Amino acid sequence: MWLTSSSIGRKVVMSVTGSALVLFLTFHMLMNLVYVYDVAVGTAAGEHYYDKVCEFLGTNWYALIATAGLAVLVLLHLVFAFILTAQNYKARGKDRYAVSGKQPVHWAAKNMLVLGIIIILGMILHLKDFWYNMMFAELMGDVHNGIEPAAGYDWINLVFACPVTVVIYFVWFCAIWYHLTHGIWSSMQTLGLNGKVWLDRWITISYVWATIIVLGFASVVVAAIINNGGFTGC
Ligand code: HEM
Repeated sequence: MWLTSSSIGRKVVMSVTGSALVLFLTFHMLMNLVYVYDVAVGTAAGEHYYDKVCEFLGTNWYALIATAGLAVLVLLHLVFAFILTAQNYKARGKDRYAVSGKQPVHWAAKNMLVLGIIIILGMILHLKDFWYNMMFAELMGDVHNGIEPAAGYDWINLVFACPVTVVIYFVWFCAIWYHLTHGIWSSMQTLGLNGKVWLDRWITISYVWATIIVLGFASVVVAAIINNGGFTGC
């Protein structure tokens, strides 16, 4: 099939799955800002709006379908990243990001696979911290650490009480930032938005978008540290 057999087809798969993952990440960041609102504004009777969001998603059929869809997207993006990198090595050896003009090649462009691997490692930790304790626990009818599966507010407090976890998350966020600053505009170029004017615009959009996403997530971690009154232990 064209999408898998040709080099441009494989790049299209990377671009489409990558763009869908950026949309997920944007939505996920916005959803998590509800926690920041809870910490900053607070609610009557100690209720947390963030828990309501987590209850709404919970283990409903639409959340389960979205989770399965996400897993497919991540898998496709990863498998095609390895195929493309191997193909580039075969074609050009170590000089794998060959360009003919004077344009400098961005550091992130040459290190997308390494950044992607750091992101996957961070994701494994993150899924263990949240998905395993929340969606998976709810599916199994379990309660971990005495915290209810839908009590997202308490889970965030617990996870970011540990300074080691916070450092790992910040390294993870840096890798995500670098990956997105190249990934977003590169996808748009593959999908045909590659006129000179639009390319420059997409490069700017990539930096702004990546920064907003990462600052949004970082604000959740900082809010949790403030809410916990510092680090209380791992
Ligand atoms: C401060 C940062 C973050 C917080 C507080 C956070 C919070 C959460 C929570 C509470 C869940 C569990 C939802 C549930 O299963 O009920 C979750 C799941 C998930 N998170 Fe995050 N997240 C953060 C950053 C990220 C980042 C940066 C990524 C991706 C690079 C990410 C990817 C995911 C994925 C793929 C899932 C599983 C989604 C699903 O089950 O459908 N998260 N996160």
